[in-house]
Amino acid sequence: MRDLSAVRIAVTGAGGFLGRHVVEALAARGCRDVLTPSRGACDLLDRSASLGWMQSHKPDMVVHCAAATGGVGWNNTHAYEAFRDNLLMTLHLVDACIDCGVQHVTHISTSIAYPPTAAVPFEETSLWKERPGGPTAGYAHAKRLGQAVLEHAQSQHGLQSAVVMPANMYGAGARMDPSRSNVVAAMVKRFVDAADTGASEVVCWGSGRPMREFIDVRDVADGVVRAAERVDTPEPINLGTGQMCSIRELAERVASCVGWQGEIQWDTSKPDGVDKVCCDVNRMQQALEWLPCIELEDGLRRMVTWYLEDVRKGA
Ligand SMILES: NC(=O)c1ccc[n+]([C@@H]2O[C@H](COP(=O)([O-])OP(=O)(O)OC[C@H]3O[C@@H](n4cnc5c(N)ncnc54)[C@H](OP(=O)(O)O)[C@@H]3O)[C@@H](O)[C@H]2O)c1
Repeated sequence: MRDLSAVRIAVTGAGGFLGRHVVEALAARGCRDVLTPSRGACDLLDRSASLGWMQSHKPDMVVHCAAATGGVGWNNTHAYEAFRDNLLMTLHLVDACIDCGVQHVTHISTSIAYPPTAAVPFEETSLWKERPGGPTAGYAHAKRLGQAVLEHAQSQHGLQSAVVMPANMYGAGARMDPSRSNVVAAMVKRFVDAADTGASEVVCWGSGRPMREFIDVRDVADGVVRAAERVDTPEPINLGTGQMCSIRELAERVASCVGWQGEIQWDTSKPDGVDKVCCDVNRMQQALEWLPCIELEDGLRRMVTWYLEDVRKGA
């Protein structure tokens, strides 16, 4: 196992939702030489800026959290942009890593990269069986290709890497802007707004029946750091809880954490999406010798507290 406290580690996207928690997880491991370039200092869409930054700072390892992301809606309306920007960022970063002798890259992919027809729970072996599809296909395609970039970088240049595929994340620091947020963040905002305005009813999309997997961002950050410590090849590894919760149960839990007691209506004229989304966690358990430990209820409470105290009060 690699001792991360003794190496210089750069975290791309360190100001983002996951990146901030990865920096905290590294600090908790005793890492003292952690570099956190902003987009202004190292724009990964700019090949020469990426190379220049890497040449000036020469990290030993990189954890690549930078990405062009949004919820399903943003991905659907920005399919080409999501594909182009995510692929370019990874290519520029890996090119610069090869040029500067970086030893290891941890790439953050996503469970969204699985084909829409993959059997549930998603096993890593099913990732490449079919093309990505559905509203997130552009983003998913680029994320899958990140793995291919690292495979070829390893075969020609010996660059070691790990590829992790987190499930849907929630927690403090999530994007709350409705145009780019995911389902948990959207619900937190909606129920807090309902409590503020005294609304007696909240309408949610669909039937509430679809089953989804959610993981606390602090658990993901821990899993990412464990992958950086333990994994040397870009064989994908899910990062999930292996447990599902219905959208209806999620809404009820968020409403309860917020303390809102009105009625939740389900607008069944709106689409549900696929029935079930959940990762198989066997490879993760073996490769990382680890399971996530934060219960959904505890994580949601922490997220609501963060939203009320850090976001709303500061607004
Ligand atoms: N959120 C989820 O539920 C989820 C689930 C599975 C996987 N993931 C993956 O986890 C990783 C982190 O996601 P996140 O939710 O933390 O995203 P995020 O909050 O949107 O953060 C993305 C970060 O990337 C930076 N960035 C964007 N474009 C850049 C560029 N051209 N050059 C340098 N930096 C750039 C952003 O900087 P600015 O702030 O300056 O824009 C931001 O710091 C991504 O790879 C994502 O695909 C996320």
